[in-house]
This record gives sequence, structure tokens and C-alpha cells, in this order.
Amino acid sequence: MPNPNPIGIFDSGVGGLSVLKEIRRLMPGEDLLYYADSAHCPYGIKPPENIRRRASKITQFLISTKAKLIVAACNTASIAGLDDLRQQFQIPIVGMEPAIKPAAEITRNGRVGVLATGVTINGERFNSLLTRFANGIEVINVPCPGLVEQVEMGQLDSPETAALLRKFLNPLMLSGVDTVVLGCTHYPFLRPLVESIMGPEVNVIDSGCAVAKRVYQVLQSKDLLADTDFRSGTETFYTSGNPDLVSQVIRHLWERPNLTVAYIKL
Ligand code: SIN
Repeated sequence: MPNPNPIGIFDSGVGGLSVLKEIRRLMPGEDLLYYADSAHCPYGIKPPENIRRRASKITQFLISTKAKLIVAACNTASIAGLDDLRQQFQIPIVGMEPAIKPAAEITRNGRVGVLATGVTINGERFNSLLTRFANGIEVINVPCPGLVEQVEMGQLDSPETAALLRKFLNPLMLSGVDTVVLGCTHYPFLRPLVESIMGPEVNVIDSGCAVAKRVYQVLQSKDLLADTDFRSGTETFYTSGNPDLVSQVIRHLWERPNLTVAYIKL
């Protein structure tokens, strides 16, 4: 039986829209609910325990709005709290992980750079990814404080954002990496800038597309896909932050000038 209920997606802010885009591309008929926890953004400098509490509250809220599957569209929240969420809730939950495995497969010179938050880089889940998939690969991890905030302000190609990125990419250029992993869902919005700094020989990859495929597989295996033959899916946006400011940025990133964002305090 098709299931018309929405997919619930959350992030510390607007970064998860990069995953929402991939989900929408793959599943045009599904209804999507998105919660931007902008009042608590960025997660990447917070104690993991706080991040787990936020993730749990938001998941509870999305379940209360009848979500049939949750996507933690935030690497930091997934690294810090995915196991916890899966223990607390029965609903299927799909999380993010930096694209270490694909990076290890495509690197030609065995040198890979990872841009992510400090919480992600120091997380056990991340280290287990390295142990499983990056054997024999030199991985250079670069925490990027301040980059999430630039995306939250919609500053995708400002001189300040470019200067910050150059600072973070510099050690990767010096190490001669040929592959850069965007290990935070905000960073795909900076891909053109990363590519222009690193040059055409360097692969720049993220995991949004793989996560969308995983969402599809899980829905299909549990018979939860909507009957999407005759309709286009809708998107509903919520935030814990200032709804006027957040809607301005979401309109820009989602390329929909009229959308509204509702304020929900959790
Ligand atoms: C953050 O809120 O600091 C980053 C979110 C992410 O890791 O995707």
C-alpha cells in the first residue's frame, strides 16, 4: 500500500537543503518536511551531548507531524547522535557520513582532504569510517570553523567566504590531495568556490546523492513510498530561528521566491 506521509528532514540550519535537493530530484512526488534548527546553529562547536538532545527533540517533532522516515541531513548530528536516535525511535532514520569510501575509490594519488566540523572529525563514527575504508590512504582532516555561518548568511561567493575557504584549503593544496570530501551538508553550496580554488584536476565530492538513494531504498524495502504517479510533492519548512531571516536564505538556496518558513520552538 503506498504511504502518503511526508519524509522528515533536519539540519542545524539551511545546509540540509543540499540533501533535500537530491531527495527531491530522486523522489519528485514525496512530501518533504524540513526543520532548520537555526537558533542552535552551528552544531559543530557544541558538546555532542547538546547536539544529541537537539536531534532527539527535532525527531520527536517530525514524528508528531506524521513523518514516515527521518533524515538527519547533518554530518555533525549524524556522527554525534545517529546511534542514539535509532535507539530511541522505531521509525527508520537515515543519517549522513562524509564520503570517505567513494573518495578512497576515486583518488589517483592516495591523498584525500576532508572539510568538516570539529565534532565530525573527532567523532568515533568518523574514525571508524577511516579505519574501514581509508586503509593506505593519506587523509588530511581540516576543521572549518566559520564556514557554516557564511552559508547561513547566504554568502556563497563573497570575498570573506572565499578568503576563509582559501585558508582551509591551503594545507590540502600543499599536501597535493587530488580529492576533497565536503563533510558537512552546508559545504556543497560552496562547491563552485572550492572547485575554482582547487582547480579542475581535483575531485570534489559529497554524500547528498548517496543519501537520497539510501532514503529511496529504505522506503521501497519497507513499502513506504508514496503513490507519486499523479502528483508533485510539497515542501514545508520550519525553523527554530528567526523565520523572516531564515526564509530569505532558504528562498535563495531553494530558488523559490515565495516560500514561507514557520517558526516552531522546540
Ligand atoms: C554545523 O552545524 O556546525 C554543521 C552541520 C553539518 O555538519 O552538516
